[in-house]
Amino acid sequence: MSDIVIRCRENGPLVVPAATLKIVDHLGNAFPLPAGKENVALCRCGHSKVKPFCDGSHRAATFQASETAPQS
Ligand code: FES
Repeated sequence: MSDIVIRCRENGPLVVPAATLKIVDHLGNAFPLPAGKENVALCRCGHSKVKPFCDGSHRAATFQASETAPQS
């Protein structure tokens, strides 16, 4: 069982707890994380201008993603 929970927002980003998070680019360089935030929102719509972070562009793009996990 993982301690990390990534939350899929309906029609929006992936929300990840920032506490122990480190995001690196393809060269291994770390992206600065937003200061003082409990969570980080990662773009999954492809429209953000600040990838890998969500900038809210998914709303204007009317991104649709409402998949649900199997019931256990
Ligand atoms: S999910 Fe928000 S800009 Fe892509």
